[in-house]
Parts: sequence; structure tokens; C-alpha cells
Amino acid sequence: MVDLSHKPRILVFAGSSRKDSFNKLLAQLCAQRIDALGGIATFIDLGDFPMPLYDGDMETASGLPDHALALRELLSEHHGLLIASPEYNGFITPLLKNTIDWLTRPHEGESGLKLFEGKFAAVVSASPGGLGGLRSLALIRQLLSNIGVTVLPDQLAVAKAGDAFSDGRLADTKQQTQLDGVCQRLVGTLEKLRD
Ligand SMILES: Cc1cc2nc3c(=O)[nH]c(=O)nc-3n(C[C@H](O)[C@H](O)[C@H](O)COP(=O)(O)O)c2cc1C
Repeated sequence: MVDLSHKPRILVFAGSSRKDSFNKLLAQLCAQRIDALGGIATFIDLGDFPMPLYDGDMETASGLPDHALALRELLSEHHGLLIASPEYNGFITPLLKNTIDWLTRPHEGESGLKLFEGKFAAVVSASPGGLGGLRSLALIRQLLSNIGVTVLPDQLAVAKAGDAFSDGRLADTKQQTQLDGVCQRLVGTLEKLRD
């Protein structure tokens, strides 16, 4: 576990690398709010960390891809995670699953799961659909729990995402408050653990 004597550091990313991704936008909003609420957010675009589809033979032959190693390093420097999870056919995206799969693999004798152990996470989603990607949230919660991450109960699913953002913000003030609540809970929980 990382030293918690300083401000909580939270790694923020979306399960989409699309240029105009709603989930990247939502993740960036979360990063801004985390910073404003006393944490330190690091927003990353998974598009900057491309990795091949996980393949056991490839891993045996070449080990982990360089981008997986870079992400492992980043993850080890953070106390928490904030993930914006798009929904594909009721599931999380292959990009998100593949990234987490590579990260959980062992490297030089160290278990990938050790990296996630003791971390806290919050999850949000956005979709042009009416449920806002809600179904993917249940699944990313399950996946993170499976690898030892504590996922906080607060969440936000932004429906009709094409109309939900205005000038890079959430247009609806109730949703802005909900987003603040999600970020506050994560920062606050990590602060309490430190204290
Ligand atoms: C293969 C595929 C399946 C999808 N399935 C769903 C779905 O089950 N529920 C949903 O709300 N949106 C679904 N969508 C629409 C996505 O929510 C939409 O493309 C969204 O913009 C993706 O997130 P992003 O904007 O962060 O890239 C699907 C899109 C794709 C490409």
C-alpha cells in the first residue's frame, strides 16, 4: 500500500479511448472535482497505453507489454481509482477488461494482484442510452472486487450523454451534485484511512 501521509492520489481513466468519448469527458470532470476536493487526480487516456489482446503465449515469450509495465508503475503510486466505464452490450468494454487483465499478471516475481490490494475505487458511466451504462457498473464493481479493490457504494450513470454535457460540464445541477458526492466519498474515505 502506498504511503497515505499526504493527499490521496487517485488514478482516473475511462474504458474508452475514443476521441470524443463521453466517458473520458466524465472521467476528466471527476479528476477536476477530486483535485478541488482535496485529492490529487491523475487522468490518463488508455489510448496512450495500447496493449495487444491478452495472450498467454505472448506473455510467456515476451513478458508484459511496455505499456502494462508503465501502468503498473502509475498504479503503484496511487491510493485509489476512479473509473468511467462505458457499456457495450450490457458489459464493460474489451479495452477496460484487457487493460485490467494485463495489469493483474505477475511480473518479476511480484503478483499483479498485489498492486490492487488495499485500493479503493469509485465508478461512474455515461451512455447515449436511457440507463447511462448502469449495467456495466455492476460488472466493473464485480471485477474490481474480484481483484481485491474496495468499491465505494456511490456511483453515477449519465443517461442521454449526447445532451448531458454542456461546455465540458454536466448540464444538470443534480448530476453535478451527484458527481461531487462520488468524488467526495472517495477522497474522504482515503483521507479517513490516512488519519
Ligand atoms: C458494440 C457496442 C455495444 C453497445 N452496447 C451498449 C449497451 O449495451 N448499452 C448502452 O447504453 N450503450 C451501448 N453502446 C453505445 C455506447 O454506450 C456508446 O457508443 C458510448 O458513446 C460509448 O462510450 P464512449 O462515448 O465513452 O466511447 C454500445 C456501443 C457499441 C460500439
